[in-house]
Amino acid sequence: MRRLFPEPAGDVDDAELELIYAYPADLSDPWVQVNFVSSADGASTVDGKSNGLSNPADTRIFALGRDLADVVLVGAGTAQIEGYRGIKRTELRASRRERLGRSEVPPVAVVTRRCSFEPDSPLIAHTLVPTIVLTCAAAPEERRAALSEAGADVVVAGETTVDLAKAIRALADRGLLRIDCEGGGQLFGELITAGLVDQLCLTVAPLLVGGDAPRIAHGDLLPPAPLPLELASILSAEGSLMIRYRRSTHPRD
Ligand SMILES: NC(=O)c1ccc[n+]([C@@H]2O[C@H](COP(=O)([O-])OP(=O)(O)OC[C@H]3O[C@@H](n4cnc5c(N)ncnc54)[C@H](OP(=O)(O)O)[C@@H]3O)[C@@H](O)[C@H]2O)c1
Repeated sequence: MRRLFPEPAGDVDDAELELIYAYPADLSDPWVQVNFVSSADGASTVDGKSNGLSNPADTRIFALGRDLADVVLVGAGTAQIEGYRGIKRTELRASRRERLGRSEVPPVAVVTRRCSFEPDSPLIAHTLVPTIVLTCAAAPEERRAALSEAGADVVVAGETTVDLAKAIRALADRGLLRIDCEGGGQLFGELITAGLVDQLCLTVAPLLVGGDAPRIAHGDLLPPAPLPLELASILSAEGSLMIRYRRSTHPRD
């Protein structure tokens, strides 16, 4: 993998990648990074999933995002379509996380209004650490109770829909400040509208997909104005660009 920006350009190894993608030091507030891969013409899926866009370089950045985070945040749509389970323990992950003072594996926090997961689904039942279900009061009470009984940490944040600011505050209350959001587009769109995105890690894959594949962010509600970003880094490998954009100013400061 090569760094193109900031200059000087040059090859980067694992240690340098870890520094480039490090969360800000001494965080006292939650910090949300969003991770996506898109084709060069802006598609976020091929045949309804993201893996047709990914390559080993993207996978490396995706795994690093998990390794550096306190929690992996995901929308219920992505969790179901992409077949999420709990995060796996690998030797690299465990040793890296131990060195950085993180827990052995990060929990997954899934956003769902309907509590649409079965209690015996892999994301609830097959995890090393309890999955956090971020839901709202409108979710059927018996579904919330069943997920809780199956071992999930069920958080009610909001009345008719999940109030994402409250949900993120609930993660912070559990000491989970470094938040790595893995999509999907609806959740990303809502995080943008709520002004909760601190960094976008975007892989642009050397592919033209065409058709009507969704963008990486969508939804009916827009922020009052487009949010300005600052370019933080560009890496390249295997024809893909791995771009990091940070929000220009922190509205929660
Ligand atoms: N290219 C990439 O890097 C990438 C990354 C991730 C996903 N994807 C693709 O994106 C697609 C999935 O994205 P998506 O936009 O359809 O779904 P999504 O954002 O993953 O999930 C949408 C679901 O999340 C829940 N949700 C989101 N915001 C909520 C809120 N504020 N309150 C309550 N619930 C909320 C709802 O779940 P309930 O219906 O359970 O209430 C909603 O149906 C898949 O095709 C996936 O492969 C691509």
